[in-house]
Amino acid sequence: MARSGKGGRGNPWGSGDAMNRKAKDQGFAARSVFKLEEIDRRFKLLQRGQRVLDLGACPGSWSQYTLERIGPGGLLVAVDLQPLRVSLPGAVVLTEDVFALEPERLVELTEGRAPPFHAVISDMAPNTTGVPFRDHVASVELCDRALELAGRVLVPGGSFVCKVFQGEDEPGLRLRIRERFDVLKSLKPKGTRTQSVEIFLVATGYRGAAPRT
Ligand SMILES: C[S@@+](CC[C@H](N)C(=O)[O-])C[C@H]1O[C@@H](n2cnc3c(N)ncnc32)[C@H](O)[C@@H]1O
Repeated sequence: MARSGKGGRGNPWGSGDAMNRKAKDQGFAARSVFKLEEIDRRFKLLQRGQRVLDLGACPGSWSQYTLERIGPGGLLVAVDLQPLRVSLPGAVVLTEDVFALEPERLVELTEGRAPPFHAVISDMAPNTTGVPFRDHVASVELCDRALELAGRVLVPGGSFVCKVFQGEDEPGLRLRIRERFDVLKSLKPKGTRTQSVEIFLVATGYRGAAPRT
């Protein structure tokens, strides 16, 4: 089991503390799980048997949730700078920087399937500096890296999710995503703290990689 702990599912939308408790009671590593759960419910993102790349996976709640959704026939590859704090049976966990991650390695990990993934999901966040513009730019760079990897590993029709700290470079990021996907929506899941500048961009219908020159 990817999850540990007790308890059933109920309404997670209480105070921050209540949500932390709820996540813990349900055996999830972090309250962020409720954000992915809402995205998945609204966009029908994750399906049984899919191969999913989770970027910025630590402590591990998105990965735990994803493993449940894709089931034993699917494959999860979870990547973070830091080791995950949960065990993820059957998943491949890479402790490394996404900027150093080679797409060819991801193809190998999926037993040579090319393109290898049905969805790339990124909850990556930079270390915040307290300077909003700097944090925003760092967040957009992480999204662009996630998008670059998605462009190398997604199946046509695949999905992409990234978290971005809102700011003036966000429209450009949206344009770059729209060039590659049929549909782009954004949402601020109910699990997001009210004062947070984060928003999630959810793109579906990957158009396929442009021929490489
Ligand atoms: C908000 S946490 C992710 C929470 C996770 N989705 C969960 O549900 O448990 C953001 C993560 O992004 C990771 N991160 C930031 N920059 C990264 C990079 N360059 N490469 C890999 N991971 C990165 C951080 O280490 C951090 O663990």
